[in-house]
Amino acid sequence: MPLLLSHLTIGAEGATADVLIQEGRIADIGNLSHLYNDASINHYDMEGLLLLPSLIDVHTHLRDPGFEYKEDIQSGARAAVKGGFTSIACMANTKPVNDNATVTTKIVQAADDAGHCNIYPIGAASKGLKGKSLAEIGDMAHAGIVAVSDDGMPLSDSGLCRKVFEYASMFELPVISHCEDHDLSCGGQIHESSVSTVSGLKGIPSASESVMVYRDIELARLTGAHLHLAHLSCKESVRLVEQAKKEGVNVTAEVTPHHLLLSVDKLKGYDANFKVNPPIRSEEDRQALIEGLKSGVIDLIASDHAPHHELEKQVEFDHAPCGINGLETALACLLTLVRKGELSLKHIIDAYSKKPAIFLKHEWLGVTKGAEANLVIVDTQLKQKIDKSFFLSKSFNTPLLGETLQGFAVMTLR
Ligand code: DOR
Repeated sequence: MPLLLSHLTIGAEGATADVLIQEGRIADIGNLSHLYNDASINHYDMEGLLLLPSLIDVHTHLRDPGFEYKEDIQSGARAAVKGGFTSIACMANTKPVNDNATVTTKIVQAADDAGHCNIYPIGAASKGLKGKSLAEIGDMAHAGIVAVSDDGMPLSDSGLCRKVFEYASMFELPVISHCEDHDLSCGGQIHESSVSTVSGLKGIPSASESVMVYRDIELARLTGAHLHLAHLSCKESVRLVEQAKKEGVNVTAEVTPHHLLLSVDKLKGYDANFKVNPPIRSEEDRQALIEGLKSGVIDLIASDHAPHHELEKQVEFDHAPCGINGLETALACLLTLVRKGELSLKHIIDAYSKKPAIFLKHEWLGVTKGAEANLVIVDTQLKQKIDKSFFLSKSFNTPLLGETLQGFAVMTLR
C-alpha cells in the first residue's frame, strides 16, 4: 500500500512538504492534501519531524563471525536501522578473518537473512590481517566485497601495501587504510598531550597516523589506486590529504562522529570507553577535522562502530580493547554539532549519505521525486539518556554513557 507522510520538514532546505512513497520510490512530493483521505493510502501526519535521505556507514565492525558476544549481524543491523542507516559496510577483523570468498559469502548470506538493512562486506587486504601476504582479493570481489582493508591492523610492509593497491584497483575496489605506525603508537593509550602526562597513560603522537597517511598517499600516487583513509584524527593528516587532493591523487578520507565531537581533555577519570584507535586528540585537531569536513577535504563521516563487551571495558585502561560503539549515537552527536553551529545539516547529508553512496557506487538522488525511498525521519527535539537500556546493539561501550543527547531517528525507511 502506498505511504503518505505529511507535513515533514525536508532536508537541509527546511521547506515543509508531503511525501508519497510507492513501490520503494518517492512517487510525489509537495502539497498532497488531496490524498489525505484516500482510503487506498496509509497516511501518517509527521508535523514537526525532519525528513532526510537515510544514512550510509562505510565503516562498521559487526564482529560476526567469531565475536558474536559483542555484536552479530542481526543486532548490528537493528542498531543501524535504529540509528537511521539503510546501508552499512562491515570490516574484515572477524574470526575467521574475512580474507577469502567463503567467509565473504557467509556474511552476504547472513546479511540477507537478517534483512533489516543492506550490509556490504569489506575484505581483508592481507591473509589473516597479518600483513605478510595478499588476501584472496579477486575471489572476494566476485563474492561481493565493496572495499579492501586490514582495518584495526596497520599494513606496515610498504611493498605489500603497494601490491594491495595494485591488485585492488584491478577490481575497482577502494583500499581503506588504517594509518598507524606501530613503532610510534605501541603501548599508547590516549593522545600524547598534557592529559597523557598527568594521567600517566602512555601517549600516542599524531605522527603515528600522519607518517602513514603520507606513505599511503605516495603509494596511491604511484599506483593510481583509490586510497580511502579511515578515521582521520589529527590536523597533520588533514593537511596532507588537502595537498594530495590538490595534486590530483585518488584519495578520499573519513572522520568519525566521536573525533568530531570529543577532545582528549574530555577524558573522565580512567573510563576505558574513551579508549579508541586512533585516539581522540586535541581540541585543535578536532577543529581541523571539522574544517576539513566543511571544506570537503574530508569526504565522509563513518562511525567506526566498534562494539566491545562490558566486561572487556571494565578493566584497567591499558588492558581494555580499543573501540567506541557508534551506530545508534552517531546522528545525535552530529546534530549536537549542528546546534552548536559547527556543522550544518547539509554537511551531514553530503558526508553521511550522498558521498558514502557514491563511495559504494550506488544511485543517490536525495529526497526528490523518483528517488529510491531510502529515508530517515528525525525528531530533532527528542532527548534520550544514553545508558545500557538505550542500545539495540549487544554492546554499549561509549564515553557518552550517562549523557543525554538530543536528535534521533524515529523511523528509517528502505
Ligand atoms: O578503536 C578501534 N577499534 N579502532 C580500530 O581500528 C578497530 C576497532 C575494533 O575493531 O575494535
